[in-house]
Amino acid sequence: MRSFWRISGEIFERLDHQPQIFFRLTSQRLVPRWAVQFSLTLCSAVITGASSGLGAEFARQLAPRACCLVLAARREEALAVTRDAVLAINPAVRVVSVPCDLATPAGREALITQLEAQDVHPNLLINNAGMGDYGTFESATQDRLSAQIALNISALVQLTHALVPRLKTAPQQPAGILNVSSLAGVLPMPDLAVYAATKAFVTSFSEALAVELAEQNIAVSCVCPGPTPTNFSKTARRESGSDTDRAGQDFLRIPPAKVVSTALEALQSGDPCVYPGLGVSLASSAFRIMPRFLQRAILRRRFANRPTQS
Ligand SMILES: NC(=O)c1ccc[n+]([C@@H]2O[C@H](COP(=O)([O-])OP(=O)(O)OC[C@H]3O[C@@H](n4cnc5c(N)ncnc54)[C@H](OP(=O)(O)O)[C@@H]3O)[C@@H](O)[C@H]2O)c1
Repeated sequence: MRSFWRISGEIFERLDHQPQIFFRLTSQRLVPRWAVQFSLTLCSAVITGASSGLGAEFARQLAPRACCLVLAARREEALAVTRDAVLAINPAVRVVSVPCDLATPAGREALITQLEAQDVHPNLLINNAGMGDYGTFESATQDRLSAQIALNISALVQLTHALVPRLKTAPQQPAGILNVSSLAGVLPMPDLAVYAATKAFVTSFSEALAVELAEQNIAVSCVCPGPTPTNFSKTARRESGSDTDRAGQDFLRIPPAKVVSTALEALQSGDPCVYPGLGVSLASSAFRIMPRFLQRAILRRRFANRPTQS
């Protein structure tokens, strides 16, 4: 016991009595001291999945402060709706729409090519496009399994890798990367097994990059929303509709506008990972400290009580 206090004392001595060596307080957030802070003023952002939900909301919230927004998703008409909304907020923003399927290498290449062709020099990448698939793993189609991995993981990793060199040389510094993960990333979730695993990947990848890229003056943040009213559930639901009952999640639900504003605040203050909303924040903390056997028991009970077997 004595040696514990001696060693602790020595460590504290070496840190020169400065607990702030680990953290600093920025806009009411405690963030790592090494973390990079991002400024939204006159940013030039690429937003994936900008045709609906959180992506369209990112575009609307960035509109008053951005100088250029590149909007990527598959549906051209829906991208045009986001573009019009952005221009209604700020007619001075340059908006470039790139219809592309980011689940394919060709679609990702098309986005990169368009940045060059349109002479866009982004200093912010928002990896938001993503999809889920509600139901058991066994009954999933190969197409939906592959699409989730291709979009939620491959697109995010490869776009990030392709854009890091451009972010480093962007005229506005520091540059930033904001990845949209999920509360599902903290739990192994039956009926969402692949989706939850892809989001665990996104959170882990983002936190590692936040450390690596701080040296390059690139801020990396990851936002992990709970259930949010967008098109997500509609897209994730299978025709059979046979998955875990998601009733009773209301205390986790917050509006897309709040998810996006919290994510942008985290990026600006240098917070590497944020769980928007009090309910989601408490749930994520509880699940992260809970023993795995207890997690599995809760998940097993919920899974066993789902409405129909698929
Ligand atoms: N809503 C929630 O409950 C929730 C909770 C936690 C995390 N999230 C995450 O939040 C992110 C945004 O989802 P959302 O809630 O805003 O859902 P959403 O309304 O369904 O939006 C998904 C976006 O991704 C785009 N997208 C889908 N497949 C694509 C592809 N192959 N290539 C390019 N773009 C594609 C869609 O556009 P097109 O269809 O036009 O391609 C759409 O713009 C996702 O990463 C999701 O995992 C959502």
